[in-house]
Amino acid sequence: MNFELTEEHLAVQKAAREFAQTELLPGVIDRDETQTFPTEQVKKMGELGFMGMMVDQQYGGSGMDAVSYVLAMEELSKIDASASVAMSVNNSLVCWGLEMYGNEAQKQKYLIRLAKGEIIGAFCLSEPEAGSDATSQQTTAQDMGDHYLINGTKNWITNGSSASVYLVIAQTHPEKKHKGINCLIVERGMPGFIVGKKENKLGIRGSDTHSLMFTDVKVPKENRIGEDGFGFNFAMNTLNGGRIGIAAQALGIASGAYELALQYSKERKAFGKEISRHQAIAFKLADMATKIEAARLLCLQAAYLKDAHKDFAHASAMAKLFASQVAMEVTVEAVQIHGGYGFVKEFHVERLMRDAKITQIYEGTSEIQKIVISRGILK
Ligand code: CAA
Repeated sequence: MNFELTEEHLAVQKAAREFAQTELLPGVIDRDETQTFPTEQVKKMGELGFMGMMVDQQYGGSGMDAVSYVLAMEELSKIDASASVAMSVNNSLVCWGLEMYGNEAQKQKYLIRLAKGEIIGAFCLSEPEAGSDATSQQTTAQDMGDHYLINGTKNWITNGSSASVYLVIAQTHPEKKHKGINCLIVERGMPGFIVGKKENKLGIRGSDTHSLMFTDVKVPKENRIGEDGFGFNFAMNTLNGGRIGIAAQALGIASGAYELALQYSKERKAFGKEISRHQAIAFKLADMATKIEAARLLCLQAAYLKDAHKDFAHASAMAKLFASQVAMEVTVEAVQIHGGYGFVKEFHVERLMRDAKITQIYEGTSEIQKIVISRGILK
């Protein structure tokens, strides 16, 4: 066992921390208020190599490991979870999926630009009637010989209006159920593809979450990822890695709120001393720090298993389940420690509390993580 981070890991962590402080912090309250996507910030994240962290350098990525990815996700999420979800989806759902399962032509055409952050991608699985029950895909990809025709609607799609490339999961052979599903690469601007309304959300308000509509969208067969019928397995395998990213996001939201609460508690005085010196607050800080450390270890373990090419599905589900719960608990306590100041926007913790909730919902709700974990235990 070795719990030490390498020099390279520490350098990534430091770079991400500095970027978050200098580039994400200014304007984060305003972006949340006005629901503005962090376009410029995401562009800079691409220039710094944060949008394709684990992609091989030959495909435009940074060639780093999943541990580095967790460290960077934590730091960015401490400040701006809207920017970090754009990063997470691009890295672990879009780039990883393409690098792992795409063919060479698809990598050349799409992956390189995605990994460099020149363009960003979206992952389109959820539908109005198929969220947790993801095998019930209503969107169809009709086989027309040399192309597919996509018809249907996708919901709650992260990077919905800012993406250029969309990985769309759709049903081709309904009689084969989930084994008849395909994943197709759809480009922004393909005729019949419309970006629908933007969701007005509780949290991650800077993230552009949209519904997408497909009407007879003609997609060449060369845009299918993997063999005919591989789409659902593609989605599940990709989401296993995505869940490490969201677990790290939840960890960052929790540790960001904790750091603010710790600082505030050392400055704010009540009843003649700093509130951190009252046991009621000190014990809250102890609980928060302990939970965060446990969440961090689960995230790093999942990343370690992924880097070691071992089965990480179970570990990533545990990391996401636990870290998202910790994010909720810690952010609520951080608001409580701040008292009245915690309830106003300038102190950031109320935003982090709102941002925390989605980590228990997207990329598989907590209940879905328990399905994945319990099936792993019981198989
Ligand atoms: N890893 C790999 N494969 C998995 C898997 C996992 N974690 N979970 C299921 N599978 C595979 C199964 O092995 C099976 O494959 P085979 O038939 O080839 O063996 C196939 O998927 C179907 O599995 P089940 O028979 O168990 O199907 P089910 O309907 O009982 O359960 C489910 C499936 C696990 C509940 C699945 O529907 C699921 O994960 N739902 C949640 C969907 C989700 O996470 N959505 C997130 C949307 S994306 C998003 O949020 C991105 C964003 O914008 C931030």
